[in-house]
Amino acid sequence: MRTPICDLFGIELPLFAFSHCRDVVAAVTNAGGFGVLGVSTMTPDELEQELTWIDQQVKGRPYGADILIPDVYEGKGQDIDIETLAAMIPEQHFEFIDKLLTEHGVELAGHQLPTTLPAISDEVSTQLLDVAFGHPIKLIANALGVPPQFMVDRAKSEGVQIAALVGAKQHAVRQVNAGVDIIVAAGTEAGGHCGDVTTMVLIPEIVDAVKETRDVPVLAAGGIVTGRQMAACMAMGAAGAWTGSVWLTTEEAETAPTVKQKMLTATSRDTVRSKSRTGKYSRQLRSAWTDAWNSEDAPTPLPMPLQSMLSEPALRRIDRLADSGHPGAQEIATYWVGQGVGLMNSIRPVRDVVYEWAEDFAAAAERLCGTLDE
Ligand SMILES: Cc1cc2nc3c(=O)[nH]c(=O)nc-3n(C[C@H](O)[C@H](O)[C@H](O)COP(=O)(O)O)c2cc1C
Repeated sequence: MRTPICDLFGIELPLFAFSHCRDVVAAVTNAGGFGVLGVSTMTPDELEQELTWIDQQVKGRPYGADILIPDVYEGKGQDIDIETLAAMIPEQHFEFIDKLLTEHGVELAGHQLPTTLPAISDEVSTQLLDVAFGHPIKLIANALGVPPQFMVDRAKSEGVQIAALVGAKQHAVRQVNAGVDIIVAAGTEAGGHCGDVTTMVLIPEIVDAVKETRDVPVLAAGGIVTGRQMAACMAMGAAGAWTGSVWLTTEEAETAPTVKQKMLTATSRDTVRSKSRTGKYSRQLRSAWTDAWNSEDAPTPLPMPLQSMLSEPALRRIDRLADSGHPGAQEIATYWVGQGVGLMNSIRPVRDVVYEWAEDFAAAAERLCGTLDE
């Protein structure tokens, strides 16, 4: 395919793949798309290892990294340590999780809180960016806010394209004014953090708004798991697709086996937007976990990063228990995924997904062209 964004990055298909799994990132890039490694759960040392591995696999082909520096979070701009953050989690929240686990016969023997500052903190995110810019990344993306000025400046001086994820028109305009080169417009169908406007409405809205501000490419995200959906978004003015969920059921993905199995059988109605995982709305598989946090006796989820500090270690242990066959843990297990999960019904290698994607896109483009008079 020849599109401006394909030319910009030297890729064959304007298909961007967000994943926390390095194998997926490398495989997408090697198949002609553009892999983007999510780094928000890594330490700087881990990131160094992951990017070194990716460099060896992709041999100069383009890839990117995605960080999460929110506009607002508990402790932002303060010299705060992890113990002080942990002390902000109310006893009521621990007790609520304990009750949920007991009801499902799960015994975790206490809560394990993180011992190092989360990646969203200024200190760790600056270190992560330093590591990322030490590798030949071609794109750096930020979610949940306008990238800090030092990130924009560093990207410009390194010649790296800077992208930002948004779920509303106003946010897109703010990002463009802040110097962002590429907008990722994520509809409410998206796995992970999302707003409440559908991809179908958001894409033309943001494409038009951005054109009036500064005409930067807009990648469409949210519910896109096929080439024909990418074609639809490009027909609405998007420069390509930015995807996350579709890779979770690939052979290469490190998705916990129980959750992967749930995804294969889930329908598009089996996800929910919930604050129970990070404190901000994010879309995930509906499970006993999300149902409990949605109930009337549930405490209000905590602001970032406190809710993640509370829930992530517990959910990871629940995954391991679920994979060992514990039925209660299997009911609770959940992970981020978008509504496109209803179309994700088999485990395939990444390369096959990308090749089928290209064929499906071409068929859709032909169908559209076939509607025109000679
Ligand atoms: C498991 C998972 C984790 C995600 N984590 C992040 C993240 O850390 N940073 C980020 O910018 N986006 C994250 N996202 C959102 C993706 O970047 C992307 O916008 C979204 O997956 C697109 O919608 P889709 O899932 O319907 O393809 C995540 C998505 C999923 C499915």
